Amino acid sequence: MQLTSVVAAALLARHAAAQNMLRFACSQLVVDRVDPIVNPGMQYTPHLHQIVGGNSFNITMDPDNHDLTASTCTSCSFKEDKSNYWTAVMFFQHKNGSYKRVPQVGNGGPQGQLVNKGGLDVYYIPSGKVTAFKKGFRMIAGSAANTDPKKVSASNICHRCWKSTDDNQFTGGAPCTGSDTVDIPADTSCKMIRQTLIFPTCWDGKNLDSPDHQSHVAYSSGSGATGGGNCPATHPVKLPQIMYEVMWNISTFLDKSTWAAKPFVYSMNIGGAAAHGDYVFGWEGDTLQKAMDNRCNLNNDCTAAGIHKQQPDVYNACTKKQQAPETVDGWLQALPMGEMARRA
Ligand SMILES: *[C@@H]1O[C@H](CO)[C@@H](O)[C@H](O)[C@H]1NC(C)=O
Ligand SMILES: *[C@@H]1O[C@H](CO)[C@@H](O)[C@H](O)[C@H]1NC(C)=O
Ligand SMILES: *[C@@H]1O[C@H](CO)[C@@H](O)[C@H](O)[C@H]1NC(C)=O
Repeated sequence: MQLTSVVAAALLARHAAAQNMLRFACSQLVVDRVDPIVNPGMQYTPHLHQIVGGNSFNITMDPDNHDLTASTCTSCSFKEDKSNYWTAVMFFQHKNGSYKRVPQVGNGGPQGQLVNKGGLDVYYIPSGKVTAFKKGFRMIAGSAANTDPKKVSASNICHRCWKSTDDNQFTGGAPCTGSDTVDIPADTSCKMIRQTLIFPTCWDGKNLDSPDHQSHVAYSSGSGATGGGNCPATHPVKLPQIMYEVMWNISTFLDKSTWAAKPFVYSMNIGGAAAHGDYVFGWEGDTLQKAMDNRCNLNNDCTAAGIHKQQPDVYNACTKKQQAPETVDGWLQALPMGEMARRA
């Protein structure tokens, strides 16, 4: 790691505002068994997701003609951001075989509270001159089928044990450093688990997507949440670094006598090795490019880019009905995979 990256990482840990970046909350649009990137057109996809962002999100999202900016609202803080962001959801597994979805909260961290109802926090971290995503761009970080933690770089996708139930209590150093793990911690001293997903920052400059939704992008030589280092010759275009933070509040599941062998799993019924995030770009016009060029910061209004922050009651109110209707909350007989979910 170069000295500048070390410094940037340390600054990010202690005082993220020192390196300008967008950082904002997104509340839950819907929790639904759909995935327009991997299974376009399919209802009741193999596993459940939580989705945030623009409400034009639907099961097809044809890259050639779906206009995300036609959304009438977004569950994310910036009014001009109609992108969609999604991840698997975490479940607690009781030793009696039933499952319950783990609630999510905002992540205040060192910069004050980011209020959201479920959902996740999104970062766009520039490093040097970056090229914003183009209309139709989409990508995936991580792999929903991977069961081997050794195949995941802990500097990109990781979990942190949070010993407080207070989302404003910052814990530890830069994301995906120190004792952060690929596996989901199973430890009764953890009150919350923070999941971090860092996306590739290098693009081939041509393809808005690829058959595996990954090979048109690549990780840079840098690691962690520093905006990324040099890009390989195959993928020379530097993108803004996207990072998701998801806070899973496990504090009601800490009675170890109720735990199954694997108490916390993602909705594929696999642990942290299968953590993944999906992204479809949908900022209006060139607002994201301008926000990066002008080093717009955190979730503040930024007139140079024409982006406006909404109040939490506004973006929290942006929701969507499930397109694959089923019960996803409360005690379930099994994970919602295959058949429709049933209550325990
Ligand atoms: C998804 O939205 C597009 C508009 O962008 C629409 O044409 C299509 O019919 C919608 N698909 C579903 C399944 O609702
Ligand atoms: C986490 O859940 C516990 C138990 O329900 C609750 O007391 C606490 O306020 C929650 N934390 C946050 C930040 O919502
Ligand atoms: C498992 O335990 C939970 C919590 O006590 C309960 O609600 C659920 O019905 C139980 N499931 C079975 C199959 O007994």
